[in-house]
Amino acid sequence: MAHDGQEHGGRLHAAARHWGIPATRWLDLSTGINPRAWPLPVIPDQVWQRLPDEDDGLSAAVRQALQLQPATGVLPLPGSQAAIQLLPTLRRASRVAVPTPGYAEHVAAWRAAGHAVQPVPVAAMARAVDTVDVLVWIQPNNPTGDLLPPAELLDWHARLVTRGGWLIVDEAFIETCPDYSLQSALGRPGLLVLRSFGKFFGLAGLRAGLLLGDAEVCEALAGQLGPWAVSGPARYLMQRALADHAWQRSSRRHMAAAGCRLTAVIEDTLGVTTTGTDLFRYWEEPRAEEIQERLAREAILIRRFVDPTALRIGLPGAEQDWGRLQAALQAIPR
Ligand SMILES: Cc1ncc(COP(=O)(O)O)c(C=O)c1O
Repeated sequence: MAHDGQEHGGRLHAAARHWGIPATRWLDLSTGINPRAWPLPVIPDQVWQRLPDEDDGLSAAVRQALQLQPATGVLPLPGSQAAIQLLPTLRRASRVAVPTPGYAEHVAAWRAAGHAVQPVPVAAMARAVDTVDVLVWIQPNNPTGDLLPPAELLDWHARLVTRGGWLIVDEAFIETCPDYSLQSALGRPGLLVLRSFGKFFGLAGLRAGLLLGDAEVCEALAGQLGPWAVSGPARYLMQRALADHAWQRSSRRHMAAAGCRLTAVIEDTLGVTTTGTDLFRYWEEPRAEEIQERLAREAILIRRFVDPTALRIGLPGAEQDWGRLQAALQAIPR
């Protein structure tokens, strides 16, 4: 499939057209979405029928579930993507460092808003801190899985904030490694964290996320979003999913085992070394196009990156899907 640098996983219908295989036959492993999603409760009729209510207890539930300090701003979002797109509109022309490879929407959004963006290799990020006003870090990084010690990120924040800068930490996949979250340090000016309900909770279609941190920035972004940006059903589900600690614990355990299994399946069949998270594995692969093509002929969709040439495979869910992936990988000549 063609690449435009802004491509995302999950474009199943485009893949079906491209490879001439009906959408219903595909195993979509092109995203990092938990295939065992949080089980949805019944949503009361009134939640569908009334306008979303900011006093529905969601903010307090977020504060409690994440044990945030009192000064921390909490802004529900229609997916963390909304903040990625709008945060750049809140600043005057700034110098911005964004990790590469990394979730490409950050670079695109800061560029689109007219800022001077430097895509910085992960290993060079620390050196960029004193040359920019805004630093975006993805923890863990998508697609490479890189993690930085929270203490190092807080040191970067302290340096950025002396010149009115921001540290934005995209924690879309943090539930796979919760000890690396900055949530307990939030409440300081210029420190912002993004959370998503699309990955660990498996609710990507719901469009639900959070901006946490600098309360003034949260308020300014709320103004940009306007009223009722997050639907009542999304607010209802976010509140309950966050409070469901038992599901989160068991899901994390299950995902860790599944992540090890995925690593072994890929590494043993292809003889490669992968990085990533429990929700996806990534490796630089000179034969990326060929491998993507061979899997696609078996109706398995994976994600290919162009610069550097690399592949990413997400977690299968059903046992039958594991079998399909393993068989298709084994059939690839080494
Ligand atoms: C690192 C990262 N951040 C943010 C997002 C946006 O997710 P959402 O808008 O569903 O919360 C994605 C989506 O793939 C992502 O990979």
